[in-house]
Amino acid sequence: MAIQIDHANSLFTLLTKNSMYQMKADSLGTLVHTRYGKRTPVFDYSYLNKSCDRGFSGNPYSAGKNRTYSLDTMPVEFPVYGSGDYRDCALKIRYSSGASSAELTFDSYEVKEGKYALPGLPAFYSCQEDTAHTLIITLKDTTNSVFVHLYYGVLEEKDIITRAVCIENKGDSPVYLDRVLSVCADFQYGEYDFISFYGRHAMERLYSRTRVHHGVQAVGSTRGASSHHYNPFVVLADKNTTETSGECYGFSFVYSGDFLAEAEKDQTGQTRVLMGIHPENFCYKLDPGQTFTAPETAMVYSSTGFESMTHTFHKAIRNNLCRGKFKKAERPVLINNWEGTYFDFTGDKLVAMASEAKEMGVELFVMDDGWFGKRDNDFSGLGDWIVNEKKLGCTLKDLSDRIHNLGLKFGIWFEPECISEDSDLYRAHPDWAFKVPEKKPVRSRYQLVLDFSRKEVRDYIFNMMCKVLDSAKIEYLKWDFNRSIGDLYSAELPADRQGETAYKYVLGLYEVLENLNQRYPDMLIEGCSGGGGRFDAGMLYYTPQIWTSDDTDAIERLKIQYGTSFAYPVSTMGAHVSAVPNHQTGRKTEISTRATVAMAGTFGYELDPAKLTTEEKEEIKNQIKTFRKYYSLIQDGIYYRLTSPYEDEEYTAWEFVSEDKQEALISIVNTKLTANGMFSRIKLRGLNPDLWYSIDNTEYPGAALMEAGLPLPIPSFEYESWNLHVKAINQ
Ligand code: GLA
Repeated sequence: MAIQIDHANSLFTLLTKNSMYQMKADSLGTLVHTRYGKRTPVFDYSYLNKSCDRGFSGNPYSAGKNRTYSLDTMPVEFPVYGSGDYRDCALKIRYSSGASSAELTFDSYEVKEGKYALPGLPAFYSCQEDTAHTLIITLKDTTNSVFVHLYYGVLEEKDIITRAVCIENKGDSPVYLDRVLSVCADFQYGEYDFISFYGRHAMERLYSRTRVHHGVQAVGSTRGASSHHYNPFVVLADKNTTETSGECYGFSFVYSGDFLAEAEKDQTGQTRVLMGIHPENFCYKLDPGQTFTAPETAMVYSSTGFESMTHTFHKAIRNNLCRGKFKKAERPVLINNWEGTYFDFTGDKLVAMASEAKEMGVELFVMDDGWFGKRDNDFSGLGDWIVNEKKLGCTLKDLSDRIHNLGLKFGIWFEPECISEDSDLYRAHPDWAFKVPEKKPVRSRYQLVLDFSRKEVRDYIFNMMCKVLDSAKIEYLKWDFNRSIGDLYSAELPADRQGETAYKYVLGLYEVLENLNQRYPDMLIEGCSGGGGRFDAGMLYYTPQIWTSDDTDAIERLKIQYGTSFAYPVSTMGAHVSAVPNHQTGRKTEISTRATVAMAGTFGYELDPAKLTTEEKEEIKNQIKTFRKYYSLIQDGIYYRLTSPYEDEEYTAWEFVSEDKQEALISIVNTKLTANGMFSRIKLRGLNPDLWYSIDNTEYPGAALMEAGLPLPIPSFEYESWNLHVKAINQ
């Protein structure tokens, strides 16, 4: 049983294949954390929690003269503001008196078969092959009105524990929730590093590793979306942890809006990790009888380095978070016209592109921004989801038919959450956009954001989208979102509920995405937010792939995809071959290298085929054949980071290995040319040491490839890349 309860000691132990998580309601009713780490015998680990009288660390009244009992120095499972714990807390309740000091004690618990779901929010779910259980521990405050339900989901074989929180007001006056984070994890001992993924538009999820020091180290977003700037995935790792050794804990927030993820080292050397909705734009008024649900966080522990943590996340995200037909169905190789034409196209031009793309083996044609309203640049048109037949020179149905007649599927771009001031929709409903009464709104890309917390706004946009989607055969939709939210103010909410807007916005977004998924189950939806500005586990519940970055430069992508890979599987990463000189960096790379890099993703093209040489077209034909040949190995195989682009200046390499270890594909990109260079080798991973493998007609023992390594080719031109197929020899 994955959840073990020792009633006599009020001990709650969660067990997965390799990890253990334990907490205990102590004699004063505090839910203390005892241990999170490698699976070891079930036993009372509260012996690890030491206490002594530390000055200026408050003692709860119920502790009487015991000055050693302080919530400020013990590991607390769900710390609340005002309890004498002066570290950052998970919950802050403001009562109608205006006071915020609260105390939580254990009330009850419940164990359920299966994994909980959350109303209106994405969450991991259990599949047929999983044994899944839910533990709900309820804490209550001293007024007996605020009840805190802590949800723990345990997917035992998938090695993953999820947490969420639901706050219930059973009192007779409203309370205000000024802060509700989803997870607190206190680590009593250890020197840790905090690993996070930072960046900017067109350069997302760069790897950062810093030592946890006294004070708070935090990343987060108050932009209304999870953001390009920090990702809602962080890792706490032992200071010595490497790719293949040492302990680490990954935390993935299953939410697409504002978030906070922090590590705090306290006065006693303990480290507290917190993750949840960023409190900056948040205050939720909870009326009597109401509940508030905070989003889920998924936690993975590894005792063998980042690699196995990554494998656990990849498997769980692929199988237990992504949904729908395209969770398993093969995704089409697409061509998107954005970098090929930008706004400057006609229906005929698109058909010509599609026709050449078809010749090369492309399977889906995607019409990007510019097909609707008045939209020949990004100053107007958003919100008017009406096909611009004048620009296309035909109806959408005609265009879709022409593309289908070529033998391609057809896809289309939308940016449903945004609105241009120069649009009919804005002229009709100026109050539908976020704006505060006091000032002019902040523009970004010269556009505003629609208030998706309002049902009438969501319904209107959804209906407009359906009209378009129903008017032609459309098999793919790109859902874009091209600015950060500012001027959060909902014209529909009273002043004391404005702090709910950001959360309700995200729930509104999820509702529309859910409705789209329900209504068009065969349509593939790709998420996007100026590239990877909303690349998070929450979105992956609705869109099984996300455009990783607006930066299509193959060499920059090495770092972007490396960082993204820590949590998110290859099947979620939109990646395209684009033209050179690259539009973002001006860099020139061979088309073979661009394909090597894009194949570590969903694979497609984003260029004008008319500008390709005959040789390049031939090469693309072969690339698509190669991708199809290795599709299952790449998308379903196990992904290994063989080098780090931050540590190895000369080569970035990765590997896909089939589950049965019979086959592997190694991709290598040279990132630095040098005269008379050194010899390098690479150690493969994930093979069977007892099998023999052949690479380029040479045979090697698996153990040799993994322990002694494989010499790397010497580059003959800048950014050369290689794909080596490794095949077990059946003796
Ligand atoms: C964003 C996307 C691009 C493209 C443009 C269109 O930047 O990330 O791929 O769709 O919008 O305006």
